[in-house]
Amino acid sequence: MLKIAEKKRTVLDIRAAKNAAEPFLALTAYTAPIAMLADKVADMVLVGDSLGMVLYGMPNTLGVTLDMMITHGTAVARYCQRALCIIDMPFGSYQSSPSQAFDNAARVISQTGAQAVKLEGGEEMAETIKFLVERGIPVVGHIGLRPQLLHTMGGYRIQGKTDATHELLLRDAKAVEQAGAFAMVVEGVVETSAREVTESVSIPTIGIGASSACDAQILVSEDALGLTPLPRAKFVKAYAELRAQAEQALEQLAADVKARRFPGPEQTYVKK
Ligand code: KIV
Repeated sequence: MLKIAEKKRTVLDIRAAKNAAEPFLALTAYTAPIAMLADKVADMVLVGDSLGMVLYGMPNTLGVTLDMMITHGTAVARYCQRALCIIDMPFGSYQSSPSQAFDNAARVISQTGAQAVKLEGGEEMAETIKFLVERGIPVVGHIGLRPQLLHTMGGYRIQGKTDATHELLLRDAKAVEQAGAFAMVVEGVVETSAREVTESVSIPTIGIGASSACDAQILVSEDALGLTPLPRAKFVKAYAELRAQAEQALEQLAADVKARRFPGPEQTYVKK
């Protein structure tokens, strides 16, 4: 956790974390209950478009809409009392032009109460990032494996394994930094590239599947809590197995109902 007084984190606090002694933690949240938990331990809470898969059972993030992000973002931002709240711009809501991106990002910020948006892209999104930042919308970049490019990339491919993808990562990182982003997510990148990217920019890199060489780490909270079904990706570490516990608990409830053990006297209203 950043060594600052227990106040609401700002974009400037996160940017300054580049020089912190320890990496900081960011977590995703899509709902109020998870936001309440994440806000206690994370300096940044992201309403990620991964909600399409985790909450809605979609096969990928491409079907997520701006309205979905605004609905979930509003619930999460309400409970981010300490953490900076960031909302993902979904596929199709920012790629066509900087002014399309501004109109949609302005809706996200004004309707949810979040402090910043995140969008996927490197060099080709630099103009858009600059356009948003100059007009008052703080931006987190997202380079490396970019789930919204699923079909273009022919799958989810770890980046930096070849000289060409390593060089592209470095160019993307520089472009995002120079465009004015205050931090960048680096996803699905080999350790050597993550280290070089981190050393080459003056803003924090927030890694997911990108080794411990980054300035911060982000995980999907449902993965960290063991709520998502197995198998999980190699980069995930579950710190609890709540899905298995929930299954057991609900089996017990079903058995208690069948045996008339639930509701018991404690859960029953009686006439005095
Ligand atoms: O959508 C998401 O949850 C993300 C994180 C994986 C960084 O973009």
